[in-house]
Amino acid sequence: MGGSSRVQNAVVVVTAVLVVLGMNVDGFSTELIPRHSPASPFYNPSRSQYEHLQDAIERSRKRVNHFENKLEAPLSPGGIEYLMRISIGTPPVEFVAIADTGSDLTWTQCLPCTQCYKQNFPIYDPRRSSSYKTISCKADVCFDLQSISSGCDRNNSTCEYLYGYADNSRTQGTLSTESITIGGTVIRNNIFGCSHLSTGTFPSTASGIIGLGAGKLSLVSQLGESGRKFSYCLAPYSSKSTTRISFGSDALLSGVSTPIQSDPAFDAFYFLSLESLSVGSKTIPLPSSNGVIRGGGGNIVIDSGTTVTFLPQETLLRLVSALEEAIRVPKTTDPTSTFSLCYRVEGESEFPNVTADFKGARVVLRPVNTFVEVADGVVCLAVLPTQRVSVFGNIAQTNFLVGYDLDARAVTFKPTDCTKAN
Ligand SMILES: *[C@@H]1O[C@H](CO)[C@@H](O)[C@H](O)[C@H]1NC(C)=O
Ligand SMILES: *[C@@H]1O[C@H](CO)[C@@H](O)[C@H](O)[C@H]1NC(C)=O
Ligand SMILES: *[C@@H]1O[C@H](CO)[C@@H](O)[C@H](O)[C@H]1NC(C)=O
Repeated sequence: MGGSSRVQNAVVVVTAVLVVLGMNVDGFSTELIPRHSPASPFYNPSRSQYEHLQDAIERSRKRVNHFENKLEAPLSPGGIEYLMRISIGTPPVEFVAIADTGSDLTWTQCLPCTQCYKQNFPIYDPRRSSSYKTISCKADVCFDLQSISSGCDRNNSTCEYLYGYADNSRTQGTLSTESITIGGTVIRNNIFGCSHLSTGTFPSTASGIIGLGAGKLSLVSQLGESGRKFSYCLAPYSSKSTTRISFGSDALLSGVSTPIQSDPAFDAFYFLSLESLSVGSKTIPLPSSNGVIRGGGGNIVIDSGTTVTFLPQETLLRLVSALEEAIRVPKTTDPTSTFSLCYRVEGESEFPNVTADFKGARVVLRPVNTFVEVADGVVCLAVLPTQRVSVFGNIAQTNFLVGYDLDARAVTFKPTDCTKAN
């Protein structure tokens, strides 16, 4: 293992490889299942809506805390909030996997296992699939995996990879190509990790990860001809509705558009530039970078796998005071001791919008994007302070059609009733 960054012009080389291996599909869509929805294998009916939220906040905190570890993919896989059904191989074998906008490698556990974690779905056996192929360690793609380590298996020259997540979870196995079926569409020759050895916090309810990050190996980046793009619409947290995620020519990119910035140290992440937040006539500018992470000029990561939003302490304090001035309802303390600004609401209460001015894109956040009900009748501002990296979480994204276009390098937002948009 080791030696994943070899040549300067590898970008050109790997693009050629991906085109040759290339997927020839136009577009496809499937269900995006919130972790806390009854449709999810993670669903625990004995936990209340509020307990589910507390669990999600805890996962969000861990996910962001792990961000500082620059050497590894900075996300903990247990923290993922959305799932997709996919099938792998020929004939196709179905399972549920984690949809992750914060990592690139798509992988599943493969037989024979050197060390597999317990999973509820049968483990995929590449020997039973007619479309499975290993990738040679001499292929350029094997040496251009960015944050993924790779090496050569001495016996048979296959490309072996090691992908570590920031909480020390890791997956190790053979880099391979295989047909993946999503929403009835077969995507051939998708590069994925056939994991023979994994350790860490992977949940038995999901059989691997679908990498939807910005890096070259992600599922989205491999959608060459049909357009390297995807879109989703997340329903409000309390609705638990499954919604849709669409890829390639099915992806809907409309509304306002802001550029994706990239940081080579975190190539999986979608960094955006959030210039200011406003409440009424009060405008709060954001620092252009945060902590140790440069973000390629961006200052906030948009991530579907983090539930709450994280902002610098100073920005959060100013946002809280602007909202306090604007909201007439009496304040209360958070019974869960999580958030700093909470209100007791009875019946209809007027909460102000918060305008998020991304570079080139004004996004009006409604109360559903900024406040969350933490207990009966108590709503709190769903933002936590961070010293590491700001994150535009999934509550903030609800009821927007959010589009990601890796060719145009832009993220788009369009206000949409996501509970009706299916
Ligand atoms: C190669 O095969 C031999 C014999 O099957 C085995 O002992 C050895 O561990 C293998 N080497 C690697 C790098 O897998
Ligand atoms: C290559 O060798 C490794 C280690 O011996 C083994 O795990 C793997 O299944 C082999 N791959 C193929 C395609 O034979
Ligand atoms: C919040 O924004 C929406 C959509 O732009 C608008 O219809 C609504 O009137 C705004 N609410 C307030 C209180 O300004």
